[in-house]
Amino acid sequence: MAANADQGRGAASVQLLKGQKALVTGANSGIGLATAVALGRAGADVVVNYVAGADEAQDVVRRIEGFGVRAYAHEADVSDEDQVAAMVARMVEEFGTIDIMVANAGLQRDAALTEMTLAQWQKVIDVNLTGQFPCAREAAKEFVRRGVVEEVSRSAGKIICMSSVHQIIPWAGHVNHASSKGGVAMLMQTLAQELAPQRIRVNAVAPGAIRTPINRDAWSTPEAEADLLRLIPYRRVGDPEDIANAVVAVASDLLDHVAGATLYADGGMTLSPGFATGG
Ligand code: BGC
Repeated sequence: MAANADQGRGAASVQLLKGQKALVTGANSGIGLATAVALGRAGADVVVNYVAGADEAQDVVRRIEGFGVRAYAHEADVSDEDQVAAMVARMVEEFGTIDIMVANAGLQRDAALTEMTLAQWQKVIDVNLTGQFPCAREAAKEFVRRGVVEEVSRSAGKIICMSSVHQIIPWAGHVNHASSKGGVAMLMQTLAQELAPQRIRVNAVAPGAIRTPINRDAWSTPEAEADLLRLIPYRRVGDPEDIANAVVAVASDLLDHVAGATLYADGGMTLSPGFATGG
């Protein structure tokens, strides 16, 4: 029997998130898409947020529905707090509540410092960093209102911030992106500290180089890929599913004692690979 692509490589067949309600921002492509599908496969009902690309979002919804769970697409710009509040309010209406917020939406507007416009700086900060704030806030309000429901999960809710290895690795030519991810690290840790007493777990997943449209230039030719692999000790460019599986794990009760942590899913990119052959 041909393997169903949606079964997910390496994904446990056990439904770790059965009955939970998840929202993924930027879920119509790349890491967000794979994450939304993986959450559905793990048994969660899923809201597929997008800001552009309604058709792709509908495809994701259909794939998730294939697992026998509920899903719908919702257009909203994460950097607009009213749109985020309306999105979470609709979710509470349609699904009854929210258990998992994956603040994933992110983008790049690359330029050398001397060429970078304030608009390029601001756009990246607005989406990658500021955008995670209302998502976390609106989810946390509902988590606090509802509290722990033991049959569903040991925690009152999970917030998972999509970060990057660039929360700790400086990245020349990308000061806006690296600064946004450095900010995400502190946003995550501070919220984790603030919300843990209410049994809310806030954590981050930090991908390295993953094969998605955002970095196509870095892996789409054999030369580029060979160059990129020098930065990855594990010598494999990541797939979106690698990150999606990390998110499922962090969201699940298997990791219920993990709060304020960053899970690097980067093939060792943060291990100073340049030093592997001597400093
Ligand atoms: C960037 C990708 C890059 C990766 C590793 C991410 O934050 O969005 O373009 O491949 O970091 O450098």
